[in-house]
Amino acid sequence: MNNISYNFKNRTAVITGGAQGFGFDITKRFLNSGAKVVIWDIDPKMIEKSMKDLNNPNLSSKIVDVSNYQVVEDCVNEITKSSNIDILINNAGITGPTSTLWEYDVDFWKKIVDINLMGTFNCCRAIVPNMIKNNYGRIVNVASVAGKDGNANASAYSAGKAGAIALTKSLGKELADKNIAVNAVTPAGAKTRILDQMTKEHVQRMLSKVPRGRFLEVEEFTSLVCWLSSEENTFSTAAVFDISGGRSTY
Ligand SMILES: NC(=O)c1ccc[n+]([C@@H]2O[C@H](COP(=O)([O-])OP(=O)(O)OC[C@H]3O[C@@H](n4cnc5c(N)ncnc54)[C@H](O)[C@@H]3O)[C@@H](O)[C@H]2O)c1
Repeated sequence: MNNISYNFKNRTAVITGGAQGFGFDITKRFLNSGAKVVIWDIDPKMIEKSMKDLNNPNLSSKIVDVSNYQVVEDCVNEITKSSNIDILINNAGITGPTSTLWEYDVDFWKKIVDINLMGTFNCCRAIVPNMIKNNYGRIVNVASVAGKDGNANASAYSAGKAGAIALTKSLGKELADKNIAVNAVTPAGAKTRILDQMTKEHVQRMLSKVPRGRFLEVEEFTSLVCWLSSEENTFSTAAVFDISGGRSTY
């Protein structure tokens, strides 16, 4: 698997859900490309493990629940005392249980939207003013092919991700006259821990829809996120980048 570095020297990135899966791989590549990275994640054990595994002076982390706006804002204020935030990767997310809408636990449905959509809003809401002040920013919102297609038995997840896609389009336009790019990415299934939250049948059904006939590798995903987060991306904004192995061709 290729591991091309980008030039992220003098850039500070916040990566939500960075303690494992996609977020951890993005963190690794960003650090290797010279960025300072701050991981915000809700899982203290995985945070501790990533800090130990990566053991990099340019890496810091904080236990943050992205669905709590006040916590997010306080963390932003702490970082911006000494540094700008140049890159935001809204990657934290959960799928929740696999179930029909009419049988879905109401509180769980709200929780999924709270994390996947409100979490994305909260981080953008708190960080964008700093990017505007600095006239620089790259935001990547990790949505899902589920947000385009609408997966059966995953209504909250699909709706939350569709919301994140629409938010990306609105915010991208609001910031288009500045050197700030806001884009969404829509991956198909990759073998991370998030798959443990779904039934085996559901995962198999997802895979059967992918013409490539395999799971997405985390490193393939990171490559797309890196380009979108880089200075080189001077034009694309308010857009949705597909990485679904041919599943959604629109
Ligand atoms: N893996 C896939 O198949 C797949 C496909 C499409 C989209 N995605 C999306 O990619 C993103 C990353 O998923 P992943 O596959 O790496 O999953 P993962 O479960 O490995 O990682 C998600 C991370 O988010 C963190 N997190 C969860 N709730 C949080 C909260 N409230 N605040 C802060 N952190 C929180 C978790 O602790 C975890 O470290 C998610 O948004 C997910 O919906 C994943």
